[in-house]
Amino acid sequence: AKKCSLTGTWVNDLGSNMTIESVDAEGVFAGSYHTAVSASPNEIKKSPLQGSQQKGRNQKSQPTFGFTVNWSFSDSITVFTGQCFVDDDGKEVLKTMWLLRSHVDERGDDWKATRVGTNVFTRL
Ligand code: BTN
Repeated sequence: AKKCSLTGTWVNDLGSNMTIESVDAEGVFAGSYHTAVSASPNEIKKSPLQGSQQKGRNQKSQPTFGFTVNWSFSDSITVFTGQCFVDDDGKEVLKTMWLLRSHVDERGDDWKATRVGTNVFTRL
């Protein structure tokens, strides 16, 4: 079976682009994320991401992973978690869920500070 690799440039269903540099022996990786959309009024800028791919136990060909995007143009943070799949045509696809945490000024606003969603990434 073909192995699913996170390394490379990806585009998701919103039109956001991300590039993941090489994944090291521990499964740690870094990259950059250029979002197509934003909840912030600020001008969108490319932002750094840091993540981890599951490497423990018997290495799977369709690994699970997680990464954090530390937005460089807003006070928010997004965490993604997902799995890399190889479809029937041998095409790699990343199925993810995310939590976007916005900054709020007071504890009373905490209830409205977290958005949730899904994104599907394919190779650009
Ligand atoms: C912000 O709104 O403060 C930063 C940008 C957030 C973009 C979100 S993260 C989840 C979703 N998937 C994307 O590709 N972009 C949005």
